[in-house]
Amino acid sequence: MAAQIISGVEIAKTIRAELKEEVAGLKEKNIVPGLVTILVGEDPASQSYVSAKNKTAKELGINSEQITLPVDTTEEDLLALVDKCNKDKKVNGILVQLPLPKHINEAKILYAIDPDKDVDGFHPVNVGKMVLGEQCFLPCTPHGILEMLIRSGIETSGKEVVILGRSNIVGKPMANLMLQKRKAGNATITLCHTRTADTDFHTRRADILIAAVGVPNLVKADQVKDGVVIIDVGVNRIGKTESGKAILAGDVEFESVKEKASFITPVPGGVGPMTITMLMKNTVQAAKQAAGII
Ligand code: GUN
Repeated sequence: MAAQIISGVEIAKTIRAELKEEVAGLKEKNIVPGLVTILVGEDPASQSYVSAKNKTAKELGINSEQITLPVDTTEEDLLALVDKCNKDKKVNGILVQLPLPKHINEAKILYAIDPDKDVDGFHPVNVGKMVLGEQCFLPCTPHGILEMLIRSGIETSGKEVVILGRSNIVGKPMANLMLQKRKAGNATITLCHTRTADTDFHTRRADILIAAVGVPNLVKADQVKDGVVIIDVGVNRIGKTESGKAILAGDVEFESVKEKASFITPVPGGVGPMTITMLMKNTVQAAKQAAGII
């Protein structure tokens, strides 16, 4: 039996409609959430993510500004810009798109963002609070995946969740969130990475498999069990159409694995729209907190 497709586009649409209403309500109190996105350089994938974030923000009534800086921007200049945004009362959320050029120390920039404006949830204060299960900004991709699981009615309690990839943006926070006593939590977690001795052994036991490694079509049908839930975080550019549009593939071989899975997220149209939507949710939350609401 073929899997049910989890449409991130549809779930994101529902959450965005909720947020749009919330933003309209805030406007009546003269509160307009403000987001600044900062992109350094011209990486095409980063450019497309950042412009999608800005477009979505504007659609929801969020005041969104995109700042694009040249690839040779100094660390000092970027720190000065972050500092300016930290001090600007109209700015509730600051997002510095990663990866940054090699000459800039990523940690130094992320640590400089005011934790109250850290809508990516990457600042150590927010990471620490997340691990402790305290109220904070959750990182957008793991947060979006939790929402997808909840809104698709997928049980996680007591399940074997196998995560592929140990990045700070997806793998590590995902593992942490799903082991917590929370909605879409209470799972038993295995996190596999490049040094895992026998990854297939783990993937074949997974009730829920979350792939976030950045290798196109890595996971094949013979590496998963019948009825598995597949969350594919990979956004791999494997070519271009004649009109120059990027052709995308996930980390999971969709066509074969969907015949075995019970649920599967497509690429594109799966996790991606959820990541952007949770950024919007965090920005609205930041604006409310700045205004003393909640
Ligand atoms: N690069 C890849 N994913 C993300 C993300 O969620 N936030 C930022 N700032 N950069 C990213």
